Amino acid sequence: MERSHVPVLPAEIVEFLKPDTTNAGPVVDCTLGEGGHSALLLEHAPDSRLIGVDADATMIERARYFLGPRASQVEFVCAWYDDFWLSYTGARPHRVLFDLGISTFHLAGSGRGFTFREDEPLDMRLSDSVMSAAELLSGISQEDLADIIYVFGEERYSRRIAAAIVRARSSGSLRTTGDLVETVASAVPAAYRRGRISPATRTFQALRIAVNAELERLRMALPRALAALSPDRGRMAVITFHSLEDRLVKWAFRAAAGDEAAVGRSAVTAKHSTASKFAPKLIDTVAMPEGERITVLTRRPVVPSHEEVAGNPASRSAKLRVVEKTRIEESW
Ligand SMILES: C[S@@+](CC[C@H](N)C(=O)[O-])C[C@H]1O[C@@H](n2cnc3c(N)ncnc32)[C@H](O)[C@@H]1O
Repeated sequence: MERSHVPVLPAEIVEFLKPDTTNAGPVVDCTLGEGGHSALLLEHAPDSRLIGVDADATMIERARYFLGPRASQVEFVCAWYDDFWLSYTGARPHRVLFDLGISTFHLAGSGRGFTFREDEPLDMRLSDSVMSAAELLSGISQEDLADIIYVFGEERYSRRIAAAIVRARSSGSLRTTGDLVETVASAVPAAYRRGRISPATRTFQALRIAVNAELERLRMALPRALAALSPDRGRMAVITFHSLEDRLVKWAFRAAAGDEAAVGRSAVTAKHSTASKFAPKLIDTVAMPEGERITVLTRRPVVPSHEEVAGNPASRSAKLRVVEKTRIEESW
């Protein structure tokens, strides 16, 4: 078996999340993938205990394999991270990492239709607990589909693409990702077809986010993980790959840090219709246990260096935000 995924921002993750050997709480990697980040963190703290979570059972097995002897320090949990945090009753973690989205393995080796470069089944599921892209596309209304492509894909030709998909669906010519690529290409202007990225990129992103309910899961998981984090300089880091995710993390972190202005903000900007039923809900108050305080350590998101992007183009849109939790000292 060969590794497909190169962990992004490796030095920065080690700098911010290097385990603190004086804290007995575990490290929780909420998006284990092939275990690249987990391996780096364990390398810096050989006695640490790590809980590795992934919704995809294939990734759990890949991580177990690539972690080698270090796997004995890891408790593997195959679950959606929002469900994991809902039922978590273990010791308070002192390091938490979310590295969002899908891994290079999903794109290049899973055969599950995540990429527009291959002709594969319209699946796009990280776990079979959800509906596949084919099932989603078979029953959805044209209007809802256009909304999904607009909100999750930030695709300006969403209405034309949705109309073309519905036409292809009725004529029985939408069976594989290759059919979807052709359908999208037929719906957009020629200049867009010749652009820098494939015209299907945003539609694929939107469908994958919808199939796996990615933004809603993130919105549910963040406050739960922030509440669980150890107050003894516990740190939580999130790496995002598109603006919707990043805005969700930014406002949730600020709300947790007590910034009233963050509450009620949306991950969706004014240029989008927040009225869409697919727009992520507004950020709620993110309540911390009494006597605990969150501080945002990254005023601006940390982004990869030119060298990293040159060596690992998949890192180009990565943004890292980190918070730390401390105890509020009693003042006399
Ligand atoms: C970008 S990859 C992580 C790569 C990992 N950091 C590494 O270095 O190998 C994201 C992983 O998170 C998983 N994932 C995405 N959304 C999830 C969710 N809501 N719950 C649990 N796992 C999720 C995916 O299956 C994927 O393996």
